[in-house]
Amino acid sequence: MELTEARALVTGGGSGMGREFCLRLAEAGSRVTFCDLDESAIAETVRLAEALPGEVSGFRADVGDEAEVSRLLDEAWAAAGTLNVLVNNAGIFRDRLLVRKDRQTGELRKLPLADWDAVIRVDLTGPFLCAREFAARAIESETRPAVIVNMSSAARVGNRGQSNYSAAKAGLVADTRLWADELSRYGIRTGAIAPGLVDTPILQAMPPHELEKLLTAVPLGRLGQPSEIFQAVRFIIECEYFTGRCIDLDGGIKM
Ligand SMILES: NC(=O)c1ccc[n+]([C@@H]2O[C@H](COP(=O)([O-])OP(=O)(O)OC[C@H]3O[C@@H](n4cnc5c(N)ncnc54)[C@H](O)[C@@H]3O)[C@@H](O)[C@H]2O)c1
Repeated sequence: MELTEARALVTGGGSGMGREFCLRLAEAGSRVTFCDLDESAIAETVRLAEALPGEVSGFRADVGDEAEVSRLLDEAWAAAGTLNVLVNNAGIFRDRLLVRKDRQTGELRKLPLADWDAVIRVDLTGPFLCAREFAARAIESETRPAVIVNMSSAARVGNRGQSNYSAAKAGLVADTRLWADELSRYGIRTGAIAPGLVDTPILQAMPPHELEKLLTAVPLGRLGQPSEIFQAVRFIIECEYFTGRCIDLDGGIKM
């Protein structure tokens, strides 16, 4: 699909990579709708897109809430006329070891169920709900071609302190494969991207010495830029022979 023909819905478009994807798609002439939780971040993405050729509109919606996702898809579909691209980008993390024994007190600290549930809800249930509602509408309206892009992570192989996040991001790659199988008959392709360390607000908030330590695992020795991750989004949208696979885009990171 040419980017000028893309009518995209991007989740989590109020920050980091999601914002970058909205702006680069609009720059290329795509019609973009996005959602986020943060109203002021939504307004800022819309403002940044004002001078770009593609139209950009933002909605407040929580990807983990079934009713809100259904309403979002209805609103986005109506705003754009139809949708043919979904970028499942919204994500959070709540890092903690599964069980940790405090060296001084001997006290055991466990990964709280609430932190497990919160991450699974946004990072796995969210993409499932958005993909299901997007596919249902694409099939019903016989919109083809269409494509679903899922943001996974290098952490999907299992990264210390990220039981919840690694499980969600691995599950998303599994679903990328099986949705390719289930949906190709309707002209819907899928693709996942697994970034390593990317220069977004999540990492910008980290103390420099901790970031330096993380970068020792990256052969290219630097953070990825959101614009570099967009290159993979663009490839998945444009290449009609790509489906069901995950692109590792991580500077060669050793996990
Ligand atoms: N930054 C990295 O190094 C990195 C690496 C690998 C994968 N990722 C993944 O890439 C994606 C984007 O990451 P980022 O670094 O740009 O993050 P970010 O925190 O800058 O942006 C995420 C956006 O998602 C929104 N969001 C959170 N929960 C939501 C919900 N329930 N409903 C709707 N929107 C919600 C947030 O408000 C925020 O605007 C995430 O899925 C993340 O897991 C990031």
